[in-house]
Amino acid sequence: MHWSFLASLGLLASTQAAYVWPSPHDGIEDLLFLQSGYIRFGSLADQILTCDFGAGQPGIQKAAEWVRTAFHDAVTHDATAKTGGLDASILFELDRAENLGAALNNTLADISSDVSVKSSAADLLALSLVMAVARCGDLRVPLRLGRIDATEAGPLGVPEAHTDLNTTKKAFEKAGFSEEDMITLVACGHTLGSVHSVDHPEIVSGEVSAENIAHFDTTHGTFDNAVITEYLNSTTSNPLIINTNDTLNSDKRVFAADGNATMTKLKDPAVYKAKCEDAFERMLDLVPASVTLSDPLQPADVKPYISTHQLKANGSIEFIGRIRIRTTASTGINPNDITVALSYIDRNGVRSNQTIPTTMGTFKGGSSFGYLGENFNWFEFSQILPSSTGISAFDVKLTTKSSGAVTTFDNGGTGGYPINPYILFQQRNSCLETQNLNGNLTIVAAVHKSQLQDNSAPQLKLVHRTPFPRSFISKLEAESIPLERTSAESGEFTYLKVTTPLEVSSWRTSFDVELGEGEAAERLEYQHTSEVHDSCEALV
Ligand code: HEM
Ligand SMILES: *[C@@H]1O[C@H](CO)[C@@H](O)[C@H](O)[C@H]1NC(C)=O
Ligand SMILES: *[C@@H]1O[C@H](CO)[C@@H](O)[C@H](O)[C@H]1NC(C)=O
Ligand SMILES: *[C@@H]1O[C@H](CO)[C@@H](O)[C@H](O)[C@H]1NC(C)=O
Ligand SMILES: *[C@@H]1O[C@H](CO)[C@@H](O)[C@H](O)[C@H]1NC(C)=O
Ligand SMILES: *[C@@H]1O[C@H](CO)[C@@H](O)[C@H](O)[C@H]1NC(C)=O
Ligand SMILES: *[C@@H]1O[C@H](CO)[C@@H](O)[C@H](O)[C@H]1NC(C)=O
Ligand SMILES: *[C@@H]1O[C@H](CO)[C@@H](O)[C@H](O)[C@H]1NC(C)=O
Ligand SMILES: *[C@@H]1O[C@H](CO)[C@@H](O)[C@H](O)[C@H]1NC(C)=O
Repeated sequence: MHWSFLASLGLLASTQAAYVWPSPHDGIEDLLFLQSGYIRFGSLADQILTCDFGAGQPGIQKAAEWVRTAFHDAVTHDATAKTGGLDASILFELDRAENLGAALNNTLADISSDVSVKSSAADLLALSLVMAVARCGDLRVPLRLGRIDATEAGPLGVPEAHTDLNTTKKAFEKAGFSEEDMITLVACGHTLGSVHSVDHPEIVSGEVSAENIAHFDTTHGTFDNAVITEYLNSTTSNPLIINTNDTLNSDKRVFAADGNATMTKLKDPAVYKAKCEDAFERMLDLVPASVTLSDPLQPADVKPYISTHQLKANGSIEFIGRIRIRTTASTGINPNDITVALSYIDRNGVRSNQTIPTTMGTFKGGSSFGYLGENFNWFEFSQILPSSTGISAFDVKLTTKSSGAVTTFDNGGTGGYPINPYILFQQRNSCLETQNLNGNLTIVAAVHKSQLQDNSAPQLKLVHRTPFPRSFISKLEAESIPLERTSAESGEFTYLKVTTPLEVSSWRTSFDVELGEGEAAERLEYQHTSEVHDSCEALV
């Protein structure tokens, strides 16, 4: 690899370990960095197209709900015992008075379809806060990943409007926050959203209705410090400051806790933004001792997306996908001045003297965008390979047309981007047949005969998604189902097959195909039922 060239492209800007594909955080990286454009993952981003978007439901502001949910989940962390924190335990705590309101349940619904064995609900709650405050005020909160979801409720301890100041301070202190942090966090949270009369008729005057809400500041649709300036110049209409019943004035007590010293500092918009970024970062990183968080998520410079790797009916291997190249201005890469090709190693470890060409995607302008103004272009390939040799790994060769310079990306020095050459997911022979709410899933894998020893016990490891009671979030449990050898063969491959009934909540799920046990097992990991059709093509 030409390191000096990479450095000049801005690709070595960070000191973190290089990205290696596949990463367990690929799904969250897609949601954050590919919000719009040609190839996009908009399931979260589309719900906060504007900061005050509420999907047409009166009184609802999704960005505000996401921020509040992360706070309610995280603040019950115990910094001394190193337990609790942002662990999605909120899912089991929705009936508590301290978690009153639809916001928390709504947020869980908003993230639910993205929860997977790779993306925990807790990581998605962290992501949702990062996306919300980026949308509302261009905040940049570092996003570390690796949170593990709780399996039961955690302790009580979220302060309420009537909670006295000493108890509130203790709750923040227990989580590891100083008095200044407490004031900062409340001032950073209560710049979005409102108090709802349906949940707090004692706080919001007037009729009880979804529409009747009281905003914390006059700019609830923007992440700015009006909540502070309006407080300091006594024009505020924050319902947690101006209530005639002082017991319910929690913001008044919190904001004045240090004689307005912190609030006065936060009067400067740049200080406010920086302090909020820092406080949110520390809030998201409250995790139990069992969790090791990653470095802050950065966009990958080169990321493959393999859509098909299967045997065709005529016995050749069909290999289709895309290479995503980061083309943000700071990389110096002009997508129109590069060609991208795959240099690959076959199943026997021999590097092919042919490369796989790609063509740049041009639909919708061809590029994708997301967080931090990052830009990406797509280079698409569709190649027929002889099944006798196949493919086991590839490097990505980027050639600058104008200068002829070639840069080779070898997946962070790991020997290339790996493709399992022995287990092929036969999308065309697999299917999900459904009738009303019943379904039968058929999965077919083509397995290289060299891997089919007597003890290889081929298994489908299918993830069932079972919603928790009264919740949108599913419990994920893998079921092992034996894959049966069929009599159908193609060259050096044998077809294996299984059909299993599949409940509607699991129609969109993931699975692995596994041969053998433990360390020595050969695995094709994290395949998706969304890739199959509603009827199966015959084996041969
Ligand atoms: C002393 C601590 C706190 C108290 C007593 C408190 C209290 C409240 C109350 C009563 C509501 C209205 C809920 C509703 O009617 O739906 C609310 C909303 C909200 N809180 Fe807090 N809060 C505190 C701290 C925080 C912190 C630290 C954050 C964020 C870091 C935060 C973020 C929010 C947001 C964004 C909303 C608006 C939600 C929406 O519009 O749906 N709060 N808070
Ligand atoms: C709060 O705590 C301080 C110091 O511990 C104490 O002096 C004060 O009386 C307490 N206030 C209330 C309202 O409990
Ligand atoms: C109070 O602060 C707000 C927000 O900065 C500002 O719009 C308003 O004009 C100020 N009012 C007075 C009376 O200073
Ligand atoms: C003020 O609010 C508190 C807490 O909800 C309540 O217990 C108390 O009765 C209220 N006081 C008045 C005068 O309404
Ligand atoms: C803090 O600011 C508020 C709002 O301007 C004011 O009412 C209050 O008296 C101040 N408190 C202190 C201790 O200065
Ligand atoms: C199978 O079909 C593809 C075209 O779809 C062709 O390129 C390939 O050469 C064929 N393989 C064999 C073994 O005939
Ligand atoms: C490429 O490799 C194939 C198979 O090993 C061989 O038959 C062919 O002659 C090679 N072509 C070139 C241009 O070296
Ligand atoms: C699933 O398979 C079973 C057993 O072959 C069959 O009775 C049932 O009708 C199938 N259901 C669907 C939805 O195809
Ligand atoms: C969450 O919302 C759903 C749909 O409105 C509802 O069925 C469920 O009971 C709610 N869960 C809780 C814990 O309130």
